[in-house]
Amino acid sequence: MKLGWLEAVVLTASVAGAKDLAYSPPYYPSPWSTGAGEWAEAHRRAVEFVSNLTLAEKVNLTTGAGWEQERCVGETGGIPRLGMWGMCMQDSPLGVRDADYNSGFPAGINVAATWDKRLAYQRGMAMGEEHRDKGVDVQLGPVAGPLGKNPDGGRVWEGFSPDPVLTGMMMAETIKGMQDAGVIACAKHYVGYEQEHFRQASEAQGYGYNITQSLSSNIDDKTMHELYLWPFVDSVRAGVGSIMCSYNQINNSYGCSNSYTMNKLLKSELGFQGFVMSDWGAHHSGVGDALAGLDMSMPGDVLLGSPYSYWGTNLTISVLNGTIPEWRVDDMAVRIMAAYYKVGRDRYRTPPNFSSWTRDVYGYEHFIVSEDYTKLNDRVNVQRDHADVIRKIGSDSIVLLKNCGGLPLTHQEPFVGILGEDAGSNPYGANGCTDRGCDNGTLAMGWGSGTANFPYLITPEQAIQNEVLTYSAGKTNVFSVTDNGALDQMADVASQSAVALVFVNADSGEGYIDVDGNEGDRKNMTLWKNGEQVIKTATENCNNTIVIMHTPSAVLIGDWYENPNITAILWAGLPGQESGRSLVDVLYGRVNPGGKTPFTWGKTRKAYGQAILTEPNNGVGAPQDDFTDGVFIDYRRFDKDDEEPIYEFGHGLSYTNFEFSDLEITTLNADKYTATTGKTMKAPVLGKVGQASDYLFPSGIKRVTQYLYPWLNSTNLKKSSGDPDYGMKTEDYVPDGAQNGSPQELLPASGPSGGNSGLFDELIQVRATIKNTGSVIGDEVPQLYVSLGGEDNPVRVLRAFDRVTIAPGQELEWTSTLTRRDLSNWDVSAQDWVVSNAQKKVYIGSSSRKLPLSADLPSVQ
Ligand SMILES: *[C@@H]1O[C@H](CO)[C@@H](O)[C@H](O)[C@H]1NC(C)=O
Ligand SMILES: *[C@@H]1O[C@H](CO)[C@@H](O)[C@H](O)[C@H]1NC(C)=O
Ligand SMILES: *[C@@H]1O[C@H](CO)[C@@H](O)[C@H](O)[C@H]1NC(C)=O
Ligand SMILES: *[C@@H]1O[C@H](CO)[C@@H](O)[C@H](O)[C@H]1NC(C)=O
Ligand SMILES: *[C@@H]1O[C@H](CO)[C@@H](O)[C@H](O)[C@H]1NC(C)=O
Ligand SMILES: *[C@@H]1O[C@H](CO)[C@@H](O)[C@H](O)[C@H]1NC(C)=O
Ligand SMILES: *[C@@H]1O[C@H](CO)[C@@H](O)[C@H](O)[C@H]1NC(C)=O
Ligand SMILES: *[C@@H]1O[C@H](CO)[C@@H](O)[C@H](O)[C@H]1NC(C)=O
Ligand SMILES: *[C@@H]1O[C@H](CO)[C@@H](O)[C@H](O)[C@H]1NC(C)=O
Ligand SMILES: *[C@@H]1O[C@H](CO)[C@@H](O)[C@H](O)[C@H]1NC(C)=O
Ligand SMILES: *[C@@H]1O[C@H](CO)[C@@H](O)[C@H](O)[C@H]1NC(C)=O
Repeated sequence: MKLGWLEAVVLTASVAGAKDLAYSPPYYPSPWSTGAGEWAEAHRRAVEFVSNLTLAEKVNLTTGAGWEQERCVGETGGIPRLGMWGMCMQDSPLGVRDADYNSGFPAGINVAATWDKRLAYQRGMAMGEEHRDKGVDVQLGPVAGPLGKNPDGGRVWEGFSPDPVLTGMMMAETIKGMQDAGVIACAKHYVGYEQEHFRQASEAQGYGYNITQSLSSNIDDKTMHELYLWPFVDSVRAGVGSIMCSYNQINNSYGCSNSYTMNKLLKSELGFQGFVMSDWGAHHSGVGDALAGLDMSMPGDVLLGSPYSYWGTNLTISVLNGTIPEWRVDDMAVRIMAAYYKVGRDRYRTPPNFSSWTRDVYGYEHFIVSEDYTKLNDRVNVQRDHADVIRKIGSDSIVLLKNCGGLPLTHQEPFVGILGEDAGSNPYGANGCTDRGCDNGTLAMGWGSGTANFPYLITPEQAIQNEVLTYSAGKTNVFSVTDNGALDQMADVASQSAVALVFVNADSGEGYIDVDGNEGDRKNMTLWKNGEQVIKTATENCNNTIVIMHTPSAVLIGDWYENPNITAILWAGLPGQESGRSLVDVLYGRVNPGGKTPFTWGKTRKAYGQAILTEPNNGVGAPQDDFTDGVFIDYRRFDKDDEEPIYEFGHGLSYTNFEFSDLEITTLNADKYTATTGKTMKAPVLGKVGQASDYLFPSGIKRVTQYLYPWLNSTNLKKSSGDPDYGMKTEDYVPDGAQNGSPQELLPASGPSGGNSGLFDELIQVRATIKNTGSVIGDEVPQLYVSLGGEDNPVRVLRAFDRVTIAPGQELEWTSTLTRRDLSNWDVSAQDWVVSNAQKKVYIGSSSRKLPLSADLPSVQ
């Protein structure tokens, strides 16, 4: 059996300079759940339920049945004695993956671009309903890792924004929506998962890199607290039921083996009451990972498709032989069942009515071993009226980056040109490339497991043609050229166009698919498929060219954005199935754009700071990614370096104008902050272990080939385990204190729901007036930034925002508050948050660099 934290220490000790490698300090024992706060009732029911279970039944809840053994991308064992079937885990953060008759929602990055918390909630709810109706227990999303340290990181679009506050608020609203719909949300990937290259050694080997261990993200304590952990705090506060540990290592200890990130930060400091599940194949050791805080192994097998598990039988054995205390397995089961009750799974449950492995109606229940032919797919239509919220997010997320009179269009244009492959259909079909692993036609999702099948995809070409012919039939010409090689034909159309609508894109996705030499991460930050040439062809021939971009994050636009023939530039992100309709709503002014860019548009890749690590830098050992940028990513890096962006974080134009005035600041009467002290209760033990003979594979049960059961083949534990290293002395792999179930000291910054409750006290109220000074109704996003003062802090950090609608000539009074957390820094030596003595300032405006209102903040504690 492989080892946990020790494995990292021992293996890294064998490479040169090992003592210089970042190291993750051990933190044991793994905190047991207490049912604190709003978890009380769910926890009580979970304890009652788990108290009735045998060890084998508890183990069943913790371990997947194996890759492609059941219908969902991951499914645990069930408890047939109590009529409970296994729990179904299903991708993705933007809809039900690997299914049909479901919706294809906009990506997380688009939700961030709306800056609209209500829409985040509504999308979460709509996605939750679809998963619920398909029989899913846990929807694997939303995403706060990657956060977006790297603009070219493959999966940044699955999450929200490189700003932790924007991401944190969108995480919280998405989670609440999903869980109010009755499914368990899964905040992922925890933590420091910022690039695709080297995320898994095996995958990297497939690309020809000679490494034996996954990348290590080396993150200092302050950066962890102030940046990467921040949105997970908001997730825990929102009551998230599960969290997925990541593929990468953190300080040379794997995400799912790391006692510091799981036991200390998540379960002790943040007081997380739900369960931690492994990413698929991120589980690396049996005893070690259990003691480090992992609660569920997904999809259960050692390697996808192998008939063995670190848990299952091995977990039962580890309890029988005394290496894992009974209370640890009890706690795993309680955490899983508490999440189950918290979101109402007992009321909403329906068995999975689809299969991830086939669109056919009939097929094998146990797909990987072709056993038990049955009806698999009921083709349940779960779309409801979700197209409405999809279309709305699509248009509300469009960021009008530039507008020199090009927009809105009027329906009076006598000749409309539509240019670029990104306007049209994928000749392979909207779902023609597995997991969207190609860039054919218009781009409405990135690629990888963070996708869903489209029920349809309305392209810009279709929607524009339809718009023009509906409003201007008989009075206009409309042509599209969607072959990016057909530059002559494009020139011909552009030269006749009153307006040329040019569509370009760039794509990225998950590391297991390589699209055009992009191994998940983008290999460059320019447009794909000759996009620059398409723009050039249009601008040379038409002085009213409008550029529309579908991209997962920033691309380099320096060569063309200032061209006077470009009269407007729009970023439409990855808008999902209603792409074209969302766009025409904005082009023709039915929707006044109010989206704001959730990331910075820099002049060069270098301006963003550190590059993605694309060459191993530690021999065959784990590539070392030192996060030397610290908290200075995206706009914080540009501000620090005094680097002028092309379009700054938070920027976005409207068809009207807004004015900010009347800043008012009030100190609120908050209680003093007190560090948490005291001890936990002792670990509850919810049952008797029994002996090996109680857990033998029962007679009379049909054994599915390769299926992962909790039972033993014989009373000989070593034989039943089949582990060649079975029986190694526990001192060699059970860390000090890991088996100790006695009361433990509480951490100063800890609390039941995201940390010390004093952090969430409101200290200051801020008010401002916003006036619509133009002639059309529109949305503005008042953005509140704080300067924390002192040397180590960013110039400014976002702390609050709202999206508001204001009629022409009207004023709106916007009120917001700052919590203690908003004004604090993480003090590494105190291991607590502190409000420093440095003078703090507040700024309000319409972007990170358009901040007409500012004032010193009163001193608070
Ligand atoms: C137990 O785990 C070890 C790896 O630590 C593995 O080799 C063995 O096959 C597992 N046993 C079972 C029954 O899955
Ligand atoms: C990683 O190492 C740094 C530097 O020693 C330390 O500040 C940080 O807490 C460590 N983080 C983890 C997760 O081990
Ligand atoms: C657990 O067992 C007790 C005693 O047998 C019984 O009263 C109770 O209903 C059971 N609870 C559940 C949730 O099965
Ligand atoms: C574990 O789950 C499997 C699959 O649902 C089931 O066949 C088996 O009976 C369960 N074992 C126990 C102990 O309930
Ligand atoms: C990988 O590197 C090791 C150590 O340098 C070497 O022994 C091994 O042959 C290499 N394997 C491949 C596939 O290149
Ligand atoms: C206990 O069981 C686990 C799982 O099979 C095994 O890895 C470990 O070596 C065993 N330890 C002892 C002391 O027998
Ligand atoms: C569609 O995508 C595939 C895979 O990337 C590519 O090989 C093919 O050329 C594309 N076809 C068109 C028509 O764009
Ligand atoms: C950047 O990558 C894309 C996608 O692979 C490719 O189409 C484009 O030509 C590349 N750009 C440059 C400048 O090499
Ligand atoms: C743009 O071109 C049209 C016709 O090609 C011309 O009528 C118009 O004056 C031009 N506008 C500008 C601002 O140059
Ligand atoms: C702008 O468009 C006109 C055609 O309307 C063309 O003559 C001119 O060269 C273009 N300017 C640029 C900078 O491309
Ligand atoms: C346990 O028995 C099953 C069924 O005979 C077999 O497939 C499996 O390999 C055995 N496991 C071990 C660890 O020997």
